[in-house]
Amino acid sequence: MASPSVAVTSFPAEAVPQAPEDPLFGLMAAYRADTSPDKVDLGIGAYRDNSGKPWVLPVVKKAETIIHDDPTANHEYLPIAGLASFTSKAAELILGADSPAIAENRTISIQTISGTGAVHLGALFLAKFYHGNRQIYFSNPTWANHNQIFSNVNFATTTYPYFDKQSRGLDFSGMIGAIEAAPNNSVILLHACAHNPTGVDPTQEQWAKIADVIRKKRHLPFFDCAYQGFASGDLARDAGAVRYFVEQGFELLIAQSFAKNFGLYGERAGCFHFVAAPQKDTAATADTVSRVKSQLYFLQRSEISNPPIFGARVASTVLNDAALFSEWEENLRTMAGRIQSMRTALREKLEALGTPGTWNHITDQIGMFSFTGLTEAQVQKLRSDFHVYMTKNGRISMAGLNTNNVEYFAKSVDAVVRSA
Ligand code: LMR
Repeated sequence: MASPSVAVTSFPAEAVPQAPEDPLFGLMAAYRADTSPDKVDLGIGAYRDNSGKPWVLPVVKKAETIIHDDPTANHEYLPIAGLASFTSKAAELILGADSPAIAENRTISIQTISGTGAVHLGALFLAKFYHGNRQIYFSNPTWANHNQIFSNVNFATTTYPYFDKQSRGLDFSGMIGAIEAAPNNSVILLHACAHNPTGVDPTQEQWAKIADVIRKKRHLPFFDCAYQGFASGDLARDAGAVRYFVEQGFELLIAQSFAKNFGLYGERAGCFHFVAAPQKDTAATADTVSRVKSQLYFLQRSEISNPPIFGARVASTVLNDAALFSEWEENLRTMAGRIQSMRTALREKLEALGTPGTWNHITDQIGMFSFTGLTEAQVQKLRSDFHVYMTKNGRISMAGLNTNNVEYFAKSVDAVVRSA
């Protein structure tokens, strides 16, 4: 029997307009649907091995076996703040095991739905409680989801210059100038390392100057750290900017993802950290921590109740075992090293082909991505004529290149650049 039809919906187009498809996940679907044997996926930032396949880190496999064989493991709820053995090590990983902020109990660490969940929890907290200039400054460009996450909680967003199209490096004076010009007590989002999408990071000296301006303007830094270990292959070095700000006594927020560095993409393992500034009166610091923590727990409970257990358990198993930890560092070096070798290979091939333009930025940039400088029209042509998939801003995920397709990609870029 046909269902009885009703004439109205409570959700007409004026109330619920069609939302655009997510560009990144749309790209992933289009790539999967493409039947060409030549197709190349340089879209989403997920590591691939030299045969273009997802890589389950060997150390993660070991941790999974340990969990599987553990007779005490079960599927009970985690506490609201997540798995303590995971969040405490996550804090040490980003802040350093000897961080004064940890020793002085100035940190709050809450397990989240990966980095996105951590950015969201921070955004929600700011939207509800921030009394400074209620506006967050993003680098231009930034990870597209930053905008959506803050807009969804009605927190105003704006940008500071970041990428210099001429040098394909950092527009440092533009960045510093805009942060200086921002109203006092603004929120400044900073990519801790391996900037997404540009692959361009400030130097240590530049970070020190950024910190000076942020202090002078009493801004609140919010670090997004999705690629620790991917920029240099060295966990401590990649946490350098965050650690410097903490040493300088800033109060700050951190969103930390374990998707990329553990290859735990779909397991959604992440952490949000709040670091309180060391106030003169330690009781006042403790009071800040206690109040902020209580509200973060309250938000978390209503948002997700408590976080998922498996990915956190995997990461915790590795982070709490010295031998597994060094094996993880080795796995990280494998990933960062392969990406680095693809940067070298791509640049060499483009230069050998004499492709018009300069290509040093491919090896100057770091981390998962390269911001190629290709235009939207060129990106379209790469897709329609060569089955190469990348975001329309010209970003490529370097991990999608391997010894089998880098030549094909270089030749495709060469053809497209020449035809323009
Ligand atoms: C990316 O930028 O490709 C990744 O961070 C994946 C994502 O969720 O956007």
